[in-house]
Amino acid sequence: MSVSATSRLEHVKKVFLKSYGCQMNVYDAERMADVLAPEGYSETPVMEEADLVVLNTCHIREKAAEKVYSELGRVKALKAARAATGLETQVVVAGCVAQAEGGEIIRRAPVVDVVVGPQSYHRLPVLLAKAGREPAVDTEFPIEDKFDHLPRPAADKIRSRGVSAFLTVQEGCDKFCTFCVVPYTRGAEMSRPVGKILDEARRLAAAGVRELTLIGQNVNAYHGEGPDGSDWSLGKLLEALAAVPDIVRLRYATSHPRDMDDDLIAAHRDLPGLMPFLHLPVQSGSDRILEAMNRKHTGDAYRRLVERVRAARPDIALSSDFIVGFPGETDQDFEDTMRLVSDVGFASAYFFKYSPRPGTPAAEMDLQVPDAVKAERLARLQELLDGQRRAFNRGTIGRTVDVLLERPGRHPGQLAGKSPYLQAVQIEAGAHRAGDLVRVRIVQAGSNSLFGERADLASDGLVVAA
Ligand code: 5AD
Ligand code: SF4
Repeated sequence: MSVSATSRLEHVKKVFLKSYGCQMNVYDAERMADVLAPEGYSETPVMEEADLVVLNTCHIREKAAEKVYSELGRVKALKAARAATGLETQVVVAGCVAQAEGGEIIRRAPVVDVVVGPQSYHRLPVLLAKAGREPAVDTEFPIEDKFDHLPRPAADKIRSRGVSAFLTVQEGCDKFCTFCVVPYTRGAEMSRPVGKILDEARRLAAAGVRELTLIGQNVNAYHGEGPDGSDWSLGKLLEALAAVPDIVRLRYATSHPRDMDDDLIAAHRDLPGLMPFLHLPVQSGSDRILEAMNRKHTGDAYRRLVERVRAARPDIALSSDFIVGFPGETDQDFEDTMRLVSDVGFASAYFFKYSPRPGTPAAEMDLQVPDAVKAERLARLQELLDGQRRAFNRGTIGRTVDVLLERPGRHPGQLAGKSPYLQAVQIEAGAHRAGDLVRVRIVQAGSNSLFGERADLASDGLVVAA
């Protein structure tokens, strides 16, 4: 064995990865771990012991971006403390802040060694080697497909990440909502070919994954190349994935109302494995504001769409994103949003104060709404949506649902999993393990999770039906 190989084995390098923002970033951080594993890096949850710190950033709202710079302050102190004991630390800023700000990050935070955009992280090893000499920046949108350059993680690595996995099927967005940075940071829409997605799904299933969540910035705009060379919709892709052995549940996020086509609605009717949960951001209930946002749908079009989805799958639980205080939003516009929420009824939701993002059209619009008004509207909207969420959760008490067990529960002896409606459910584990799909009767609804009993157990805990 050569000297360098010996010393490489002696020092197992450690990487600390932290992801901000959306599910795409969680997936990307896992892929970065996969790229770094053959370079000798193992993951650590402790930043202090990391030879490499990777911050996978989010640029969607100002607060999200500012968090990165405050974290870099901490990283700087840590790098200095480690240097005092003779240890080197390399620092990478990845993700959408990296894409949007590029080299500016290194000027503002010289502690950073590498800035890498979401389309270039497969080049991390090269960039890290280069950064030994000078800071490296890569925010290209390369022609090559990064997915073709990603190593395949080992089965035990996949399994250690859990029985529910994300699978990127689509990236980027061409919608250009006037408030949003995504079309600039993630680039134009692109869909992965069906064959490559099916391969990845089969590998995940063989390693023990039971639930797949297909992800993309605009996932229902999916139009990938099928094995026959034709364009496949997301509905058709879901149908093919439902046939992959051992995949018992399918989900997808995030969708745009304009791309909810007939295929996808039919998939909710026809595929038992497709979970009855739909995250379908509406952003506002005011037609005037929806137009200024360039959403290209009205409040009523959204209501009609929800009716069609509910006709296909009556028990479907809806979730949405809302923005309050978009430029020019009047009290009346906001009341239209409140009315839409009351009309539709949501099982869960995310709500945000509008945050002007440099370079987007809305940031330049007149009539920016004062923060105090945004705060007041957000509080009212939150109250309404929280009430709907609690009512939805209470509505499942007494019902029997399938729960996919995912991880240890809150208390010893408990396991936690998800209902079909994406509610967190805790049960007494008994002989069950993560990965099991069990029938559970919901007996109680807490503020963040539901509590259930196995439906095949009598109240004294004896199995009454095998
Ligand atoms: N301000 C506030 N919220 C935003 N979102 C996107 N851009 C902004 C912004 N500039 C929200 C939208 C989107 C979610 C991911 O983030 O609701 O659906
Ligand atoms: Fe952003 Fe979604 Fe609009 Fe695309 S569709 S611009 S990702 S909010």
